[in-house]
Order: sequence, then structure tokens, then C-alpha cells
Amino acid sequence: MAAQQKLYEGKAKILYTTEDPDILLSYFKDDATAFNAQKRGSIAGKGEINCAISSHLFQVLEAAGVPTHFVDRLAPDQMRVKAVKIVPLEVVVRNIAAGSLCQQTGLQLGTILKQPLVEFFYKNDALGDPLLTPDRLSLLDLATTEQVAQMRSLALKINQILSAFFGQCGITLVDFKLEFGLDHQQRLLLADEISPDTCRLWDQAETDPQRRVMDKDRFRQDLGHVEAAYQRVLERVLGIGQFLTDD
Ligand code: TMP
Ligand code: ASP
Repeated sequence: MAAQQKLYEGKAKILYTTEDPDILLSYFKDDATAFNAQKRGSIAGKGEINCAISSHLFQVLEAAGVPTHFVDRLAPDQMRVKAVKIVPLEVVVRNIAAGSLCQQTGLQLGTILKQPLVEFFYKNDALGDPLLTPDRLSLLDLATTEQVAQMRSLALKINQILSAFFGQCGITLVDFKLEFGLDHQQRLLLADEISPDTCRLWDQAETDPQRRVMDKDRFRQDLGHVEAAYQRVLERVLGIGQFLTDD
């Protein structure tokens, strides 16, 4: 199935149409951005690594009953996905305080949250992806009340599955961002990607707050060894995957 027209180019991926109107091709780029694209760079091999990690995690989630847009991995950096209309929300789930939660609340980095926190951000680069209050969420009408409730409950279910999965890889899932889309039947599917670009992942074998970081914070904070960290996540994810399927 050859790629046809470029449909959309984002910061980390390009979407192409295919001969099948229900299927799109998602091409994962090595490009990396942070702070609403104020910081730009490239992480060698990231496209292939993130495509591999995402493909694997989407299959883990599908097997656990989470509907996703994943179809198959066509090439190392290319994934076939179901065509969906993306809901312009970034759904963040947090288990441990980090990033904007620390900056905006004063909670100390590493504070274990009493229960997972689900946050909805408006996916709008021009506005800097602001955090939405529940009232703003309903005011903007970006999704129905039922869809918001469904996203929240899927996000919490995904958190349980992925926290357990990464735990078996010796990795703590600190927080992550999800995007959902609606297919032609208006069914809500998990879309986009799940990778070290979109998750905070801490190596349980390391206690040093910089050495433990295995995700895009290495790029955001100039911690170095970005490629090596992404590669290590992939190896752990595939290692546990083989272990699970061989069982
Ligand atoms: P935050 O602490 O900066 O709000 O980020 C929360 C999680 O969301 C973290 O795992 C990184 C991820 N994330 C994205 O995937 N894309 C983004 O644009 C931002 C700001 C965060
Ligand atoms: N991906 C986002 C951006 O550039 C932000 C981030 O991941 O920190 O703009």
C-alpha cells in the first residue's frame, strides 16, 4: 500500500492518505521539538524507535480491550492507522508530580500522587495548549459530555495497563499524554502515539534524578544521551513483549 498525498504534517509525524480511504499512513520523523516548538532538534533514529514502541504498546492495549487506531507497522518508521478525526484535546494522566504540574502547583518533583490525575489540555499550538477547567471544556464544545467521560475512563484504564507493563520493564510511568479520534462510526479510538516523546519514564534501577530519565525530558533539559535512552526503552519494551508472547 503506497503512500499517496500528504494529509497533515505535525512536529513529529506526517500523515499520508492511502488507496483505502479508511486507512492512513503515519510516518514518524526524527525531528524533536519542545516548549511549543521554541526548541527544535533531531534525535537520530527516533522515528523508527518511536514507531516500534508505539506499535508494540498499541497492540498491548488492544489485547486488553482498548480500541486504538493501530492497524500494523508497515516499515520501521511507518504505521498504518485507521482514519479518525482527532479530538483537539491532549489528555494527560499523572502518577507522580513532574513538569507543568510542579511548575503550576508547587508540588515537589517526584511526589507520588494519592490517585492518578487526569487533565485535559486544549490542543491548540497558537494558544500554547492551555490547561482547561471542566467548565471551559464544556464551554468550548470540543467533545460531548459522554465523550469526555469516555476519554477519562479510557485514560485511567490505559494508565493501569501501561503502568503494569512498564513496571515489568523496570520503568516507572510518571505521566503521559494521549490523543483520541473519532472514526466514521463516531467511535472513540486511541490515536497519535505512545512513546518516550509523549511519556515520562524513569529507570527504576537509577535513583539520580537526571540519570533515571529515559524520555524527552533528556532533550527538553539538555541532559544528553537522548538516543541511548530511547533505545533502552525500546529494548526493555520489546524484551518484555517477547517474554509475554513466548509465555
Ligand atoms: P507537562 O508536564 O509538560 O504538562 O507534560 C505532561 C505529559 O505530557 C508528559 O509526559 C509529556 C507529555 N507532553 C506531550 O506529549 N506533548 C506536549 O506538547 C506536552 C506539553 C507534554
Ligand atoms: N511537543 C511539544 C512541542 O513542541 C512540547 C513538548 O513535548 O514539550 O512543542
